[in-house]
Amino acid sequence: MELNPKAIRGSFVDFVDDPFFRAETECVRYFQDGLMILEKGKILEFDSYANLSDRYANLPIETYEGLILPGFIDLHVHYPQTEMIAACGEQLLAWLEKYVFPTELRFQDPDYARKIASFFLDELLRNGTTTAVVLTTIFPGSVEVLFEEAQKRSMRLIAGQMLMSRNAPEFLINEPHKAYAENCELIHKWHGKDRLLCAITPRFAITSTEIELSLAGKLKAEFPDVYIHTHLSENLKEIEFTSSLFPDCIDYLNVYEQFGLVSDRSIFAHCVHLSNSAFQRLSASGAAIAYCPTSNLFLGSGLFKLDQAKSEAYPIKVGLGSDVGAGTSFSQLKSMGEAYKISQLQGQSLSAFKAFYLATLGGAKALSLDSKLGNFAQAKEADFIVLEPNATPLLRLRNSSYTGDSFGDLPGDLYRDLDAISSQLFGLMILGDERAIKATYVNGELWQSSD
Ligand code: GUN
Ligand code: ZN
Repeated sequence: MELNPKAIRGSFVDFVDDPFFRAETECVRYFQDGLMILEKGKILEFDSYANLSDRYANLPIETYEGLILPGFIDLHVHYPQTEMIAACGEQLLAWLEKYVFPTELRFQDPDYARKIASFFLDELLRNGTTTAVVLTTIFPGSVEVLFEEAQKRSMRLIAGQMLMSRNAPEFLINEPHKAYAENCELIHKWHGKDRLLCAITPRFAITSTEIELSLAGKLKAEFPDVYIHTHLSENLKEIEFTSSLFPDCIDYLNVYEQFGLVSDRSIFAHCVHLSNSAFQRLSASGAAIAYCPTSNLFLGSGLFKLDQAKSEAYPIKVGLGSDVGAGTSFSQLKSMGEAYKISQLQGQSLSAFKAFYLATLGGAKALSLDSKLGNFAQAKEADFIVLEPNATPLLRLRNSSYTGDSFGDLPGDLYRDLDAISSQLFGLMILGDERAIKATYVNGELWQSSD
C-alpha cells in the first residue's frame, strides 16, 4: 500500500443522512469541484478544491471527469453461483435443485473455487462494488480461497461457510458439529483480519436441522460481533415448507429468533412476504434486509415492500443485494433500476438519490459499518468509484436533452446542480451498467483488471 498522501479531484456525490426520512437536499452532498486527500487507504480530508488546495499544493493530483461516489455495497451475493447465472425456467426450490446444488458441488475442489472466486471479485470491482456480503458453500476450502483472493485485493468482504444439514443432496450435507468446528476455525483465522469479517450462514431454515441452528446460535453467542447472514421469506412454497418443518414457530422469522440468530448484526435476504408483525420485530431487533430486486423478479418471488421497510413507525435498515446467480447482474446500477420498477408496480416511486443511498451509506448502516464505509467522511476507508453519466451513445443523447425540474422550486445554484445530478444518476440506474464505471478505488488504490 502506498504510504504517501495523494489527492483526487473531481465532482463528488455522497450521502450524509437517510433520504427516506429527511429531505433529499439535506441528505445528499455534492461538490462540483471537490478534493479528497487519501492516506494509508483512508480519507484524510474531503472538501471543495477551493478550500483545500492551498494546503495540499505539493501533492500529486489525479483529476477525473464524471461523478465520484462511494464504492457500492452488495449486501447479498453467492460467489459459487457466478457461472450458473441466467438459468432458465424455475422458481426458488426447483431452481436450487436443478441448477444450484450441482454447481456448488464443484467447489469441493479448492483450485476450481479459487478460479471462480478470483473471477467473481474482479467482476464485483469492474461493476464498482467494493464491499460484499458473500455466500459460499459447505466446503471450508471454498471459503478460504475467497478470503485469500479478497485479501489480495484489499477488499471489505464478509463471508462464512454455508451451513446445510438436510433437505439437500447427500453431497451438500455437512454434519452440524463438524460444520461448527470448521466455522470456529474460519472465524479465528479470518474475522477482523485486514478488511475481512465473518458471518454465520445457515443457507435457510429448510436446509438446517434444529441441532444445526442451535449450534449456529451457540457460535453467535461465542462470537457476538460475527454476522448472521441468511435468507428469509423469499418464496411462498419456501415459506410453506418452512412452517411444516418448524410447526411450533409462529412464522419464518421466529425460527431464527428461537435460535438467537436475530440481532443488529443479522442480514436477511429477500423478506418479500413478511407479515406486519415480522416487519415490526425486524425493526425492533435492528436487523437488516438485503433487498434483491433483480433476483426477486428473475425467480418470480414477488415484490418487496420497500415503503413498509422504510416506514417512520418501524424503520428497518435496508441495503441492496445483487443475489447473483438468482440475480441477473453484478451491477448495483441494475439492482437500482429494477428496484425502481418494483416501486412503480406498487404505485410508488424510487428517486435516484434514494436508490444510490441504498447502495452506499444504506448498505454501510445495514452492516453497522457506517463508521468506516458508505460516504466520504474523514477517516473512512477510501473505497470509491468514478461514474461516467455519458458512458454510452444513448446516455449521451438522453442527457443532452435534459431539462431540470425536480428540485426546481428551490433557490440557488446548488439546487440547479442537484437537479442535474439527480437526472444523471437516474439515467445511470435505468440505462447504465459496468461501462459506466470508469475507475474503482479500493482502500485508496486504483483497481486494475488483470484481463
Ligand atoms: N434460498 C436458499 N438458498 C438460496 C439461494 O442460493 N438463492 C436464493 N435466491 N435463495 C435461496
Ligand atoms: Zn441468496
